[in-house]
Amino acid sequence: MCGIVGYVGTRDAGDVLVKGLKRLEYRGYDSAGVAILNGEMSVQKGKGKVINLEKSLAANEIKGHIGIGHTRWATHGEPNDVNSHPHLSESGRIAVVHNGIIENYNSLKRKLTENGRTFHSQTDTEIIAQLIEEIYTGSDKITFEQAIQLTLKQIVGTYGLAIVNLDTPDKIYIARKGSPLLLGIGENEMFIASDASPIVEYTNKVVYLDDGEMAVVDANSYEVKTIDDVALTKEVHELAISLDAIEKAGYPHFMLKEIFEQPRSIADCLRGRINEKNGTIQLGGIAEVMDDLVNAKRIVIAACGTSWHSGLVGEYLFEHLAKTPVEVEYASEFRYRDPLIGEGDVMLVISQSGETADTLAALREAKARGAMVLGICNVVGSTISRETDAGVFTHAGPEIGVASTKAFTAQVVVLTMMALKLGIEKGHINKKQAKEYIRELAAIPDKVDQILKGCDDVTQDMAKLFTYAPNFLYLGRSYNFPVALEGALKLKEISYIHAEGYPAAEMKHGPIALIDEMMPVVVIAATDHTNDKMVSNIEEVKARKGRIISIMNSENSEVKDLSEFSISIPSTKDCFSPLLTVIPLQLLSYYIAVNRGCNVDQPRNLAKSVTVE
Ligand code: F6R
Repeated sequence: MCGIVGYVGTRDAGDVLVKGLKRLEYRGYDSAGVAILNGEMSVQKGKGKVINLEKSLAANEIKGHIGIGHTRWATHGEPNDVNSHPHLSESGRIAVVHNGIIENYNSLKRKLTENGRTFHSQTDTEIIAQLIEEIYTGSDKITFEQAIQLTLKQIVGTYGLAIVNLDTPDKIYIARKGSPLLLGIGENEMFIASDASPIVEYTNKVVYLDDGEMAVVDANSYEVKTIDDVALTKEVHELAISLDAIEKAGYPHFMLKEIFEQPRSIADCLRGRINEKNGTIQLGGIAEVMDDLVNAKRIVIAACGTSWHSGLVGEYLFEHLAKTPVEVEYASEFRYRDPLIGEGDVMLVISQSGETADTLAALREAKARGAMVLGICNVVGSTISRETDAGVFTHAGPEIGVASTKAFTAQVVVLTMMALKLGIEKGHINKKQAKEYIRELAAIPDKVDQILKGCDDVTQDMAKLFTYAPNFLYLGRSYNFPVALEGALKLKEISYIHAEGYPAAEMKHGPIALIDEMMPVVVIAATDHTNDKMVSNIEEVKARKGRIISIMNSENSEVKDLSEFSISIPSTKDCFSPLLTVIPLQLLSYYIAVNRGCNVDQPRNLAKSVTVE
């Protein structure tokens, strides 16, 4: 969702804030703004991209060494100049940037209005600035910090907050409940951000704030405490990501860079974890809970979006390889049912960002009901990775493109390793089979590389032909049914073409009515044990003049002959096939979106990290 940055030190605050906001722009990009303290409160903000903000800051020559900034993904109030952050108190002396939702903002606003305060925006954030000021100026005995604490106690909802006040011109106040915030520690300077990307070029020392905590930060020191004023000593972590990892490296878009990074990101995910020679798998993050996993009655996987699709692949993997029953839940639905989960169950949450509000809530719900909670996350230090009992990192590197690509394949790789490990531990996979699986898994990065080199041109040709198709259907069976869902999601989110994914056999129960000569149908016919059935489904589409694009195993001439376009992928075991079949689908969506002139890395209405429910 929204991105927050803050800086205090000796550099030009405007420069640091704008650079940081550009790095955070993938979190929200409908408006951007900064407040810089320089003897007065200089605020520059407005609808649109950070680049507009950069221009207006330069034109107005706003300088200073301390400030806060924000890039917005609108929740309350349309994206316009007035609703952009920062928001000011009545006197204009206090500025606030906020990520999250204040649920009781209406009643608070009513009270503050009755007290004579005037509101300018439709946002929930403005009440925070106003309420802090109301409390702060209401009594001589209350410090600014106490006013913030008292305000936070009245607020119901979630927040990541950064606040500055002209009365304390060398300090930034931050607080967190439900929206991530971290503090970067430099030499005579401090950085604040929603994630590590704006900080990494200045320092690798960071402190993660937890829910219910706040910090008072100046250029040389920081003090972390609970919002009940209990002082805390926080661990200082070292960031492992590099600056290269968050830049485009010559690619026109982050998404394309991330698609092409997959041979490496998959290899990074496997590194040190599989041993081909011995036929063993080592997953340090879950070693201590392996017995619980072996004895688990079932695994409940909860996730959202693309991560939910990888969870569906996980269901096939765990049931086939480890014979453990699995249910896959939309995290948002799980939490609002009365879920039957408890001791003896394992909940496995999957999240690239590790901050998705619905997934986090499902995790907490399962934990409260006594289940053991494991995680698969990409972002080290994220809330989900810290709240799970144990887990495995995907090591895919930062994913900046809003549409998830390399995170998906890395999640599937982790699920594959977990399922294999569990199958071995439970005695369902013997030594010889383990070696075979692991040998094949180790070959996946090269096969992905082969696909990327072999199908880039043909996907561009296909994209030209189908750029203006109004609808797409994606069909798959078994392991490739979730890939059909993922292919459809990729297309709709970045090209705004309506697309549906279905289990191929389900087509005849309704969607077949949509098929005519205008309908491109992407069939993923690369799962050996269901291929004959898939051929019948392709025939059904052909009989209604649908246009077949197939992703198939090489040498499948039957499918090839039935297809207008076909992309062949190297053969592999059925259970590893999603790692290969998804690659051409990512490329196809990418090139169609580019042809349509869409903003691939920042699709409309989306944000990378969905920290509101
Ligand atoms: C799709 C996409 C989203 C995310 C979803 C969950 O390309 O990126 O559907 O997969 O918002 O996000 P994480 O994995 O961060 O929990």
